[in-house]
Amino acid sequence: MRISKNLILYITFFQIIINISCQQYIPRGRVYHTATLIGTRIYFLGGLNNDSLLTNDFFYLDISKSFNKIEGPLPFVNVTLSGSIPKHYGATTSAFGKSKSSIFFFGGDIGALQLTIELAYTLDTTQSPLIWKNIAVSSNEVERRRLLSAVADNNNKIYLFGGGGRMGDIVYMHYNIMNIFDNATDSWTYTIDNTIIKREGHTATFLSDTGEIVYIGGCGDNGTLIDMTIVFRCNNTISGTWQKWETKNPPEQRCQHTAALTTDNRIIVFGGIDSLELPVENYYVVLNTKTLEWYHGNESITGAPYRGHTATFYNNYMFVAFGQGITQQASNDILIYEIKDGANFAEVDYYNIPVDNTPFNYDLIMGITTFSIIVLGFIGLVIFMYIKQKKKKPAKGEKPKKYVMTKP
Ligand SMILES: *[C@@H]1O[C@H](CO)[C@@H](O)[C@H](O)[C@H]1NC(C)=O
Ligand SMILES: *[C@@H]1O[C@H](CO)[C@@H](O)[C@H](O)[C@H]1NC(C)=O
Ligand SMILES: *[C@@H]1O[C@H](CO)[C@@H](O)[C@H](O)[C@H]1NC(C)=O
Ligand SMILES: *[C@@H]1O[C@H](CO)[C@@H](O)[C@H](O)[C@H]1NC(C)=O
Ligand SMILES: *[C@@H]1O[C@H](CO)[C@@H](O)[C@H](O)[C@H]1NC(C)=O
Ligand SMILES: *[C@@H]1O[C@H](CO)[C@@H](O)[C@H](O)[C@H]1NC(C)=O
Repeated sequence: MRISKNLILYITFFQIIINISCQQYIPRGRVYHTATLIGTRIYFLGGLNNDSLLTNDFFYLDISKSFNKIEGPLPFVNVTLSGSIPKHYGATTSAFGKSKSSIFFFGGDIGALQLTIELAYTLDTTQSPLIWKNIAVSSNEVERRRLLSAVADNNNKIYLFGGGGRMGDIVYMHYNIMNIFDNATDSWTYTIDNTIIKREGHTATFLSDTGEIVYIGGCGDNGTLIDMTIVFRCNNTISGTWQKWETKNPPEQRCQHTAALTTDNRIIVFGGIDSLELPVENYYVVLNTKTLEWYHGNESITGAPYRGHTATFYNNYMFVAFGQGITQQASNDILIYEIKDGANFAEVDYYNIPVDNTPFNYDLIMGITTFSIIVLGFIGLVIFMYIKQKKKKPAKGEKPKKYVMTKP
């Protein structure tokens, strides 16, 4: 009787220890968050959660190891911070710096679009403890916007273009300003070219070989969609010089889509809404930046988000995270697309890192896991025995109880 009671206690204790050491962070569903790829981590930040509340949740998806969605939860890791960033949605981020290990954050709707404080932040992911550093802005040049774009060049400059906002307390408006932040000199400059239509919900993609930024789609005042036959690129070697690219075979115009750059310089445009805020017909279209030709995927995508999602390309996979789909208001899933040539792709449940990059073998992991469980079990046993022992020890001044042996 006594033994079985102890055994149950011991098993419970053991299970608690196992549960604590294996607890998996599962983020809530969200829309209009940001995603920033740093090394083999996709850092997610903020957004409106599935209860339509502003958040500043900060966590990453670990893509340093292969995983399979069917076999277990996604490898999310909650990030511990000292200090935080305002709760927001519709902000923009970009990895920057020589090693692309810092995050630049700008804007978003914090429930007060006219506020020009707490507007720009940087975070160096190599630093410990992690901390968001507020960047000062001159409020008459840099205004809070949402649904704008940020890209960093090969040096230390970050280019913020467009977006929607509310200057002072006046009506909601769109922007065509390009604010440029130079981290090396901690200074802001800006350019405005009035031949460029004011817009929000467009995408910006940096082509590092040519130093150009490619701007695609978006919508202007009153939901007017921007023509996608013309793609603007900004030659940043002389700031503010915009050039037009006339593209072939353009897809349906769209707003609030995402753009992910492949290693062979194709831009994958995913999702988006039309002028009635309905999902576009073809979610998956691809611009070849060499030939300026669009490819149209011919597989219909169902169940994928079309707005408020993010798309991150790594290792021939594209990770489409969270967002609003036809049936889901705020998805908590990550869809994985294996990227092929043209506009070909396959939705998969797995992410496999290339075999020759594997820094460890499976047997070793199994060995370590088994060993850890044994060690944890042993620690649990020792703690249990210690507690049991302590309980038996009489308090000071108390007479030790005599144990009366009952005869069988
Ligand atoms: C949002 O997600 C949380 C956790 O996943 C869940 O408990 C909650 O019911 C969801 N809320 C809505 C409105 O769907
Ligand atoms: C995630 O980390 C943040 C910051 O350290 C903390 O406030 C929050 O409670 C954590 N969330 C979970 C689910 O552990
Ligand atoms: C940005 O500038 C700050 C201040 O000069 C510096 O500490 C930081 O290392 C810079 N970040 C990068 C990524 O270069
Ligand atoms: C950018 O503009 C400069 C000056 O006009 C020109 O020399 C350079 O070739 C342009 N770069 C590209 C990629 O078009
Ligand atoms: C947007 O719509 C409003 C109201 O219908 C109108 O007054 C305004 O001129 C429109 N703006 C543009 C740019 O078409
Ligand atoms: C679409 O279908 C055609 C014919 O079935 C096929 O050759 C092509 O590879 C498919 N994919 C794309 C992206 O066009």
